[in-house]
Parts: sequence; structure tokens; C-alpha cells
Amino acid sequence: MSIIEQAAKRLDELKRAGMSVSGGDEEVLSSDAADADSRGVTEINEAGGSAFHDRGRTLEKVAEMESAWSSANEESTLHVDIDLQALAAKNFVTPESSHSQLADEFRVIKRPLLVNARGDGGAPLRNGNMIMVTSSLPGEGKSFTSINLAMSIAMEMDLRVLLVDADISHASVLTYLGLPKSKGLLDVLLDEKIDLGDVLLRTNVEKLSILPGGGRYKHATELLASESMRRLIDEIASRYSDRIIIFDSPPLLVTTESRVLATHMGQIVMVVEAGKTPHAAVKQALKTIESCPVVLMMLNKSVATNSGGYGYAGYGYGTY
Ligand SMILES: Nc1ncnc2c1ncn2[C@@H]1O[C@H](COP(=O)(O)OP(=O)(O)O)[C@@H](O)[C@H]1O
Ligand SMILES: [Mg+2]
Repeated sequence: MSIIEQAAKRLDELKRAGMSVSGGDEEVLSSDAADADSRGVTEINEAGGSAFHDRGRTLEKVAEMESAWSSANEESTLHVDIDLQALAAKNFVTPESSHSQLADEFRVIKRPLLVNARGDGGAPLRNGNMIMVTSSLPGEGKSFTSINLAMSIAMEMDLRVLLVDADISHASVLTYLGLPKSKGLLDVLLDEKIDLGDVLLRTNVEKLSILPGGGRYKHATELLASESMRRLIDEIASRYSDRIIIFDSPPLLVTTESRVLATHMGQIVMVVEAGKTPHAAVKQALKTIESCPVVLMMLNKSVATNSGGYGYAGYGYGTY
């Protein structure tokens, strides 16, 4: 394909992606492609005339388009392979183990979340696609639940999922998935030259991307409750608004970051370890997330389910 044909093809692709493409010597691309993409802008400026005058200019334009194209896609070029067999052996939901009892349990667990996220249940829920998984105390199964939920949703035909490891001081998503350490949330917070797209990991589960917690820093906890974190969550919400975003979050009664996170979320899954977490702790934890419109309680490690796994306890209980 000639360079002109390549450029024309890219131009078409950009137009299909909803980007403004003008003619002549004007700026070829809208100034904020990422923003346009996040708002789902589909308006195309069909100004007449060729955008390309000579080969040098054409190459420049193609380079500009390539860069805008990747930011319009909002995807990183980083790709990781999750060992799905090893993951299934550790009793996680994977595409290969889609007939397991655990996979069935997660089908039940995700359904009301997806109904809310899509607004199928009535009035659309603000930030319904932003789902925080939390608990009162550490060790109740937040990471286990977040990963299984993300995997289960990514197996849906039409849904893409972003799993965010927001339990920074105990970031364990990459470890559970058998993946090496990688930059993430904290690095984006601390270094303005790092863009979210630079640290996002695409995986061999086609519809699943991961935003790792990132490096370890002394004041990570303060950072998570900071104004920059608020802005970053807003950015995640708008850039990835077409996805279900699952935040594996810190426990509510140990630190205050989750309370800050909760104010941005449309839905919260509150994991409760069966037979262990005291009633009073659950009650106290629920009080801290009253701002979230939908809180679903999930009883984990319960002996009541056949697999010793999951079940919603008092589903609907937490709808404030
Ligand atoms: N439903 C479950 N069945 C079996 N083991 C579980 C279950 N949920 C959690 N675990 C185990 O409990 C431990 C703590 O879970 P984890 O998800 O890391 O907790 P948290 O993220 O809340 O601190 C891990 O060893 C995990 O494998
Ligand atoms: Mg965890």
C-alpha cells in the first residue's frame, strides 16, 4: 500500500473513530482527541479538499494521526499473558473454566451489577459502571472477588472490563494473576509525564485490561486520599466510560482511602467473610459508604454454598 493510500486508510479509520478531520493546512486533528473519544463524540468535520500536499507533510500527518489514533483507542501497547491454566488451578474463574461452580456463582453475582451499570433496571445510575469491591477488614476476599468478577464480566460478549488495583498498600492483583510487577496508579499520580495509557496492561483475555497499583511509595495512603487521586478517578471514569471498571479497594475500617474512592462509585460490592467479620464491624463499615447509591453485600467463604464460596447476603439490603 502506498503511503498516500495508508494515509487515506488512517484518515478513514480516524473518521470512523469519531475524530474531527479537516482539510488544507489547518490542524488535521481535533485538539483533544482523548476527550472527544471519552464523550463518544461522533461528529465528523467533512471539510472538503485533500489534507495532504506533499510526501513530507503526509508522513507528518500520518505520524500525528498514529499518535492520536492510539490515544483515541485509550489502550496501552503493553500486553501481558496471564497463565490461565495456572489461574484455574488456583480456583479462579477463567474462560476455560466457564462451566465451574465458581463461574456459575459469579454469573449470579455479576448480574445485578450489570443491570445497574447498563441502567436496565430503570433510571440510569450515575457512574454505574464504576464498581468498588471493598470490605470492613483485610483478608475478607476483596482481591479474589475483584479478579473473579472482572474475569466473569470480560467473558460477556459485549463488555470490556478494566480491573484497577486500588488497594495500593496491599496490591495483589498482579501477584494473584502470576504477573510481574508493573507501573500503575501511583506512578501516574506521582509523575505527570506518565499517562494512564502508558501503564495500562492489555491481557490475553481480550476484553480484560488491568491498571496495576504501581510502585511502592512512602506516602501512598495520603496520595490515595488526595485531590490528584480524585482527578485521576474522574479521568478514568471519562476515558474508560465504555467499560465496566472494577476497583479492588482497601478495607474500609483500616484506612480512609476507600471512603474517598466510594464517593466516585456508582456501585459497591461489600465483601463480608462469613462467620468471621463481626456484625458491628460490617455496620460501621456500611456507615462510611453511605454516599454510594448501591451497595451489595456479598457473603464470602460461606459454607452455605456448595463450593464453600460465594453468595449475596441480603441482596438489595444496601440500597440507600
Ligand atoms: N471464596 C474463597 N474461597 C477460597 N479462598 C478464598 C476465597 N476468598 C478469598 N480466599 C482466600 O483468602 C485469602 C484472602 O483473600 P484476598 O482476596 O487476598 O483478601 P483481601 O483482598 O480482602 O485482603 C486469600 O488467600 C484468598 O485466596
Ligand atoms: Mg486484596
